[in-house]
Amino acid sequence: MPGPSQSQRSALGSLVLIAAVVGCGAAAFAYTAGWLSPDRLTSTKLVSALAPPGGPTLGHRRNHAKGICFTGVFEANGNASELSRATVFATGQYPVVGRFNLATPDPDAADPTVRVRGIGVQISAPDGGVWRMAMIDPPVFAASTPQGFYDLLQASGSKDPAAMKAFVAAHPEFPAFVEWATKAPWTASYAEVTFNSLNAFIFTDASGTDHAVRWSWRPEAPATPITAEDFAKLGPNHLEDDIAERVGKSPQRWTLVLTVAEPSDPTSDPTKAWPPERRTVEAGTLSVQKIEPEADGPCRDINFDPTILPDGIKVSDDPFPAARSAAYAKSFDLRTAEASHYPRTAGSAKP
Ligand code: HEM
Repeated sequence: MPGPSQSQRSALGSLVLIAAVVGCGAAAFAYTAGWLSPDRLTSTKLVSALAPPGGPTLGHRRNHAKGICFTGVFEANGNASELSRATVFATGQYPVVGRFNLATPDPDAADPTVRVRGIGVQISAPDGGVWRMAMIDPPVFAASTPQGFYDLLQASGSKDPAAMKAFVAAHPEFPAFVEWATKAPWTASYAEVTFNSLNAFIFTDASGTDHAVRWSWRPEAPATPITAEDFAKLGPNHLEDDIAERVGKSPQRWTLVLTVAEPSDPTSDPTKAWPPERRTVEAGTLSVQKIEPEADGPCRDINFDPTILPDGIKVSDDPFPAARSAAYAKSFDLRTAEASHYPRTAGSAKP
């Protein structure tokens, strides 16, 4: 009997190749979705764990859902060029789009019910370089790894009272955050908040030398402490009303303070503060010039992914930025696909 002809053999070979390509694609998809390793932490799990018991608010950010847009400029003074060749550090003015926000999945949360405040900032350079950052006001993060953060979300959302106790017992780093959350004074204005990157990044200077850096926005407005009780009396949306009023009168300013690590400082763990005597460099000033509501404002459709970095800044061995990038992308995909539900009108968009 004659064997397969050359053309039959090559058709068979093509089919095998197609099957292999499709099979590899399916396997990669299954891996990415976490189907092959149910214990692996995925962006889907992280984002689901952020949802409140009633489910997420469709069309809105899955965390830091309450927020207001701003625009302004970052005026670099040139000082940071010794640490990074990023063009946003060359003396000059660079446009900024940002968002003041509260760390809650509820866009209607009352301000005094949310302890952690945040800022999203995007600085654009004329060479096309874009630096996005999302920062918060505690001096340390609540968890030392993305898995630890997931475990915290699960424990705090659990009906079992033993769950949180077990989390605390297994996470000796957690009390430093609780200490801040329970003891740090409240303020009644976004303009008075110091925002911290917490995650460490690597700045590369013009000679190619790397420097590990964390950074903060230090407000020009002095912080006036207020008790939680008095803050509650100011109403559920005081922070947005206040920042709109202040910026309406004059730009509100923050100094960008870079903190440079010593070789012994931990860069992979945002629960560990660096010693206060570390060298700092003041890189310039953020002037917030205009406030706009989030709905149809310029920040609404920005994903303040902390891995969007210009040449001269890169991620470090800190595992958070990559995990955050995946979770923010998931949240962004969900909320933009749900755009018809945005902005939520009372009771209309909860699933
Ligand atoms: C694994 C840990 C974390 C997860 C899973 C997480 C998750 C999220 C998600 C899903 C969003 C909404 C993104 C969007 O729809 O655009 C968000 C926003 C935000 N996150 Fe995180 N986050 C994490 C860690 C952090 C850390 C360490 C910081 C600060 C140092 C931070 C600060 C913020 C801020 C300020 C926003 C609001 C940004 C904006 O205005 O769009 N997050 N986070």
